[in-house]
Amino acid sequence: MSFNASKAVLMVALLLLIQFIVKIIYRLTYHPLAGFPGPKIAAITYLYEYYYDLLIGDGPGGRYYIRINELHEKYGPIIRVNPDEVHIKDSSYYSTVYASAPARKDKHHTLGLVGGEAHSVFGTHGHELHRERKAAIAPLFSKRSINESQDLIWSRVALLWPRLESLTGLFDLHDVLFVISTDIAGIFAMGKPLGLGQSQQLVKVWKTAFTSLVEMTPLIRKMPWSVSLSLNLPQWITQALAPKLAKIAGLYIEASAEAQAYLVQEKFDTDTRNIYEQLRASSLPDSGKYIRRYADEALSIILAGSETTASIMTFTIFHVLNDTKMLARLREEIAEIYPDTTTQPSLGKLQSLPYLDAVIRESMRLTGMFVARSTLLAHKELNYHGWKIPPMVAPPKWQG
Ligand code: HEM
Repeated sequence: MSFNASKAVLMVALLLLIQFIVKIIYRLTYHPLAGFPGPKIAAITYLYEYYYDLLIGDGPGGRYYIRINELHEKYGPIIRVNPDEVHIKDSSYYSTVYASAPARKDKHHTLGLVGGEAHSVFGTHGHELHRERKAAIAPLFSKRSINESQDLIWSRVALLWPRLESLTGLFDLHDVLFVISTDIAGIFAMGKPLGLGQSQQLVKVWKTAFTSLVEMTPLIRKMPWSVSLSLNLPQWITQALAPKLAKIAGLYIEASAEAQAYLVQEKFDTDTRNIYEQLRASSLPDSGKYIRRYADEALSIILAGSETTASIMTFTIFHVLNDTKMLARLREEIAEIYPDTTTQPSLGKLQSLPYLDAVIRESMRLTGMFVARSTLLAHKELNYHGWKIPPMVAPPKWQG
């Protein structure tokens, strides 16, 4: 290396060092969160969070939440967990932070989660745009809409019995329920089931794809753009770089092709209502109706609604079968309105059963499907017992 080249490298290194030192001083002194309790290392750099989320546990284990709990024991109910975020451990404050309208709050850009496709409701960060997009799809998930779709749902559930009867010995109940939940989510999203029930091999491949995606959530949250990038790369590249996720990239291609058919070729579906029909009928302006928006929403609904529902059902059924008293009480309650088990129960009547409702709610509470911070950016100052949390702007997407 010539003298000038070494000098240039040295200069760059020196500048980076100075920048780093200035950043540290700023974060510890002038930063709006400088006075909040917590370890200085977390206030100085995101690397502290990255260490616990990415390097502790198996793979990107996402363990920072455990560390945060320990930090609360040391520093109290409100702490600074990274340079730009405070964390509050006080359930009485939940409704203040997560209150819906009218408080304006943006989702943090790291809330990619697994369904973080940028043009879906899940992946939309800005408060107003999120509300507009959510309002456009909400009618599809209203009680009325679900009630109207119950024949369709029952028709998929009816497939469960022959499938269960065909299985002998020990079998994985989650596999069976996963087939049903992906089918129903597929119908609500794209107007057609995913059809995983055709072979056990297909179920295994898809379950691996879904679980790999969930397991990668801590990493995805550090690089929220990675989801969009991997979905839009040519499939052979995704296959080479992340073979387990290739199925999901393939599903996205299918969702995009269906979106094209509904949007451009004006395909109509008379049997089901789905996201594409719902978006087309919505009052969104034309600028809000485009292929990527349709496809992102469909994929996000499939990812959000399938593995989650299958796991909750598996968990619930296991505990109900494992507890004879609970099973007897449930049977008794259901038999009162459905003495004849060959008839199809109405969703409305099932929803009116208090014990069944309690069992489902308790399962949802106990399963804790996702343990991840749902960071929000408030537009107005919040006050937690005298701690004034300033309104924040989203920090840049790469942090050091
Ligand atoms: C029991 C099963 C389910 C569980 C445990 C679950 C869990 C969650 C969680 C934790 C969030 C994130 C909330 C947040 O960050 O504020 C979420 C959001 C979401 N879920 Fe579910 N979910 C389930 C079923 C479903 C189903 C069946 C669908 C659709 C068919 C669905 C669609 C969505 C959508 C679209 C969002 C984004 C909402 C928004 O941004 O406002 N989920 N879900």
